[in-house]
Order: sequence, then structure tokens, then C-alpha cells
Amino acid sequence: MNSKLCLAAAISLASLLPLSAQAADSKGSVEVVHWWTSGGEKAAVDVLKAQVEQDGFTWKDGAVAGGGGATAMTVLKSRAVAGNPPGVAQIKGPDIQEWASTGLLDTDVLKDVAKEEKWDSLLDKKVADTVKYDGDYVAVPVNIHRINWLWINPEVFKKAGIEQPPKTLEEFYAAADKLKAAGFIPLAHGGQPWQDSTVFETVVFAVMGADGYKKAMVDLDEKTLTGPEMIKALTELKKVASYMDPDGKGQDWNLEAAKVINGKAGMQMMGDWAKSEWTLAKKVAGKDYQCVPFPGTGKGFLYNIDSLAVFKQKDKGTAEGQKDIARKVLGEDFQKTFSINKGSIPVRNDMLEHMDTFGFDSCAQTAAKDFLADAKSGGLQPSMAHNMATTLAVQGAFFDVITNYMNDPKAEPADAAKKLAAAIKSAQ
Ligand code: BGC
Repeated sequence: MNSKLCLAAAISLASLLPLSAQAADSKGSVEVVHWWTSGGEKAAVDVLKAQVEQDGFTWKDGAVAGGGGATAMTVLKSRAVAGNPPGVAQIKGPDIQEWASTGLLDTDVLKDVAKEEKWDSLLDKKVADTVKYDGDYVAVPVNIHRINWLWINPEVFKKAGIEQPPKTLEEFYAAADKLKAAGFIPLAHGGQPWQDSTVFETVVFAVMGADGYKKAMVDLDEKTLTGPEMIKALTELKKVASYMDPDGKGQDWNLEAAKVINGKAGMQMMGDWAKSEWTLAKKVAGKDYQCVPFPGTGKGFLYNIDSLAVFKQKDKGTAEGQKDIARKVLGEDFQKTFSINKGSIPVRNDMLEHMDTFGFDSCAQTAAKDFLADAKSGGLQPSMAHNMATTLAVQGAFFDVITNYMNDPKAEPADAAKKLAAAIKSAQ
């Protein structure tokens, strides 16, 4: 059943029941904390809500607005400190291990589901390891996002006299110059720290390649962080920033995406959740918009895996709901419908290998192909800006230095590189 039908079925079923009957008949209630609040993201998460409600559980929506999830993580921490964590929360990367080490995540509740549904063989080892703690699943992986995309409005490109999507940084700057001269915003961008760092890591990936990226952003190697390649990446970042939306300060990513969709801007650098906004606006990949890997990143893949972690609950009745969410999330139907709405690709290897048969568009098909190839070649690298590569403390150091650097007209790349290495050292 497609997402709209699913949703419609759940809504119409729910509307037949008086509220008290719904609560009384519910098999249990689970609160889910997440930050999927843009129009496109909400359409995606509504797919899961509808499926879980169809199974008879009550979904308590714990949405916390704020792209990238920093606000949601603050809310989650204070809830945990107050002894009142939700049943399920969107947590990612090494943060999952940190939460698990506090003893707050449930290491038992997913055991049977994972065995019955054969998660170990469905998932790439890298994906499975991310959501395990001491060999036990403590979270269910939802989808895979690629960060290093460039989103293009071809109509705007045509009006500005640009014939091809840029393939090199030089072509990117040339296209941006043409867009500016024709009166368009060259690069839609919301100046929030996580968005600044999303652009930064993409430029680092383009300039330093997968190995250089790994040394700097994953290994946090001081020599690499202050070396000539990082200085070059920071120099390019300043140039890229000079084409950004002058009204983008503090703007949400989806409002900036809307500027490209509505033909005010030519391009946006953003992970493929940006596609959820194009999909919501009924635009078709390859026709109404183009997605190309950011120039210089080629087939490289900066990955970001969304996952839902399960918290220990006082109310034992929550466990069945947690299991139901986990079962649904890795089911073929959800994997397909959610990712089509969200702009991501499935986490299931069997689906990644046959994307066309599931009706995925050209952007998703390219992403799946590159993901599978890079998983073998080493080109697959975890996103720092989206919590996949480091702890939140180190990520915070990156965010501070990069946003200050981008906003200070006098800042020097070599100096920023030194500040970066120093801030990271003290955050470790
Ligand atoms: C999450 C995505 C989300 C995006 C914007 C990323 O960190 O992984 O699921 O769409 O932030 O909020």
C-alpha cells in the first residue's frame, strides 16, 4: 500500500472511533522523539505513524523542530535527566554508543525481532555496528542519507545561460557567477551552524578526497587538520560562502530549499532530505530538478544513517509498541515508502541492489549504486555534521570554529585550521 493510502486508511479508521475508545482499545502507547518537522519530513514520518497505528498502538508524537537535531538532543537529555525518557528516540552514530553506555537504552527489547527478521543478514556490517552496543541491537536503522549533493533548478540555469551542471569547483564558481549576474541567488543556504558544517564537510571531501576526509574528520589527526589540504579546503569554503543567500542568516534548510524550488535560487548544497521538499512540491527528479554529486566528490559518499533507539521504560506495556516500530521500520513496505518520501535510500542490502524494481527515482538509484560500490572501496565516509563521525562534543568544536570562520570577513584559512585543531583537542 502506498503512503497516502496507508495514511488515509489510518486516518479514516481513527475517525470512526471516539477518542476514549481509541485509548481503551490501544495495545499500548509509544512516544517517539524525532526532528522530522519540515513538510517533506513530516510526510515521511507519517508513514511510520500510520503503520504503527494500524497495528493498534498509540503513537505519541514527540517532534522537536530544528534541522540537524541539536534541539531534539537537548530535549532528550533533559528528559533523561528528569527520569522520563521517551520509548523511542532518533539518535545517530557514535552517540548511540554513548547513550547505551549510560544504561538507559534497552538491550533486550529488540533481541527477538532482530533474530526473527534476520537483521544481521539484511544490513551492511557498518550499518549494523552503528546501532549495536556490545553485540546487541539498541536501535533500528531507518534509512541512509547522502550528504554530498548539489541540488539544481535547471529552469534557472537555463535563464542564466548555464548549459551543464558543474563537474569541477571551477565550473561551480563559473555557474554561480552567471546566476548572480542574471539576478538569482547562486547558492541557497541557511546560516545555521549545522548547515555551515554540512557545506564545510562537503568541500573538505571534494578537496581532500575520502582518505584526507577520514584523517581530518574521523581520525582527527592534528597534522591533517592544520595541513596544506585543510587550508586549501577552508580557502575554497570562503569562496563557496561568497555565493550564499545574503538573506540566509539563521534560516531553516527547507525555506532555503523552497527558494530553489520556486526559481529564486539556482543551487543548494544539502543532504538528500532536501529531496523530500521537491517531492512534496510534486517535482520530478531529472526533469524539474537535478541532483549531482557536489563537484569534486564524484562517486564518493558521505553517509548519514537515521536510526531510532529504544529506551528502557518503567511501563512494561511499551515494549510491544517498541517492537512493532522496529519490525515495521525494517519491513520492505516501510523502507520503500519512507525513503521515497524522505529522499533517502533503504538500509536493506537486498533493496539497495534492486532499486529500480521498487520505483526509486534517478537520484536514489545513483545513491544506492555509489553506496554499494563505496562500501567495498573505502569511499564511504561518515558525516561529521550529522553525528556519524565523532562525539557531539567534538562536533560542537567543528561547528563553532567553522561558523565563526564563515562569518568573519577578516578570518584567515591557516589561522582557522589552527583554531580548529585546538578546539577539537580540548573537546576530546
Ligand atoms: C537527519 C535527517 C533530517 C535532517 C534535517 C539530519 O541530521 O539525519 O533525517 O532530515 O537532519 O533535519
